[in-house]
This record gives sequence, structure tokens and C-alpha cells, in this order.
Amino acid sequence: MAKIVAGVGTSHVPTIGAASDNGKDRNDYFKPLFDGYDPARKWIKKIKPDVVILVYNDHASAFSVELINTFVLGVADGYAPADEGYGPRKVPYVHGHADFSSHISESLIFDEFDIAIANEMNVDHGLTVPLTVMYGKPTEWPCKVIPLCVNVIKYPQPTGNRCFNLGKALKKAVESYPEDLKVAIFGTGGMSHQLQGERAGLINSEFDQMFLDNLQSKPEILSGIGHTEYLREAGSEGIELIMWLIMRGALEDPVEVYRHYHKPVSNTGAGLICFEERAS
Ligand code: DHB
Ligand code: FE
Repeated sequence: MAKIVAGVGTSHVPTIGAASDNGKDRNDYFKPLFDGYDPARKWIKKIKPDVVILVYNDHASAFSVELINTFVLGVADGYAPADEGYGPRKVPYVHGHADFSSHISESLIFDEFDIAIANEMNVDHGLTVPLTVMYGKPTEWPCKVIPLCVNVIKYPQPTGNRCFNLGKALKKAVESYPEDLKVAIFGTGGMSHQLQGERAGLINSEFDQMFLDNLQSKPEILSGIGHTEYLREAGSEGIELIMWLIMRGALEDPVEVYRHYHKPVSNTGAGLICFEERAS
């Protein structure tokens, strides 16, 4: 049986990928951030998930405003890094697990989460930067990846509570798959940031700390945060944090094993949190 053994919440700032790709990850600006990634990279090497369900958002790379899907599950054999304007990142191709993905799509839809299904999808920094955060610069990613893409960029985004419940349905989907697989789930994006308008550059560390402090033991406080509160407290892109709630909903009794927070990284309060499922 497949089993979710670990969860990760991490920011996906594109400059983190660029710093790694261009060998600048230990310069004066990025060292405090990347030094903070080392313990998490050591930890995930020990956990060694076979498959990562990677909850992320597309930034108008694979999809445009012509078609806005609330939730899209990738069911392909693999996903190529997207060209976001500077050419695709020179990171390894992302291998999927088509059969497991298809099982998850069936389970979610029969559980009344009517996700869209992608047979082909390029993946942008929303997906590839979290892999860099956790795995550094390998020649091949050491896990298969199932992408779950969430609309957080265009109103009306799903509620945090819907995301939390989708996480629970994902756990059920994973645990009804017969192959013995160790699965980790990554919730990505955030933390507070605003890339546009009068408040561009907004970072609210107090909000970010509150989010990190409640994620393990009081997620219901977080799943009650509405769109306006995200906008006001965490900036216009802070709502990316609802994707962390999908990860948290997929864990039953998580133990926090590591946390790191550093600001600013580009325009963002950059957070990282790692959980292990107690029963695993
Ligand atoms: C930045 C953060 C993001 O989440 C993103 O998608 C793009 C840019 C930033 O802080 O620069
Ligand atoms: Fe983003």
C-alpha cells in the first residue's frame, strides 16, 4: 500500500532557482537561505520518498487566463520544465507516475473533488524551485513527481478550507493504491509577498510566523483564513499559502522536524517547514 510519510511546506521564489542554477547559492545574499536548506536536504535523503505529490501553482506558463482551472492533476509519464521567458531552467526532466496519478484522479473525483486532468503539462518555477530547495542540483530528481496545480493567481481562488479537505481526500486516494510506495507531499508558494501595486514588496513576518506556528497543531485556524485577510495581511500573492493547507490536510498526526524562515528573498518572506507522519 502507498503511504504518505512526510510533508514539506516551502516558498518557490524563482530567484532561488536562478541562484542555484548559476552557482550563486552561497554568496552573501543567498547563503543564509541555502544554509537553512541543508538540514532539510539531509532529512529528505533519509526519508527517501519514492513519489512526491507536489502541490504548486502555474504562473501563466502552462495555462493562460483563457482557461482557469481550480485544481489540475497531472497524469502524464513526465513533465518538461517550462520556458518562462528566459528559456527553460536547465534542471532534470520531471518523471511522473501515470498509473498512480490516474488512480488518484479517480479516487478524488469519486470523492466529489472534480479536478481537471492534464495529460500534458509543462511545469514552471512553482514546481521546479521546490525540488531544488529539497534536492539541490542532482543529475536526475531522486523521486517521481505527481503535480497538483492550484489556481491561486486569479480570483476566485479556492478557500483554504476546501484545500485542507482536498488534502484529506488525497490521503485517502494515496492509501488505497496497492503498490508499496513511500509518498511525500509538498505544499508550496508563499509566504507573505506582493509583487504589484502600491504595496509591492510587502512582507509580514508576524503573519508568516503565525502561519508556521499553527500549521502542525491548529490547522483549522489557518483553514478559516479568508481571501480578504490573506490580501490584507500577507499581500496579493500571500494566498499561495492555501497550497500548504492541502499538504497539511494530507497528514494525520504530523511531527514538525524542521523549520527555517528568512526574509527578504526577492520580494518574499521565504519559509520552509518539514513534517513526518508520527505513525510512519
Ligand atoms: C516572487 C515570488 C513568487 O512566488 C513568484 O511566483 C514570483 C516572484 C518574488 O518574490 O520575486
Ligand atoms: Fe509564486
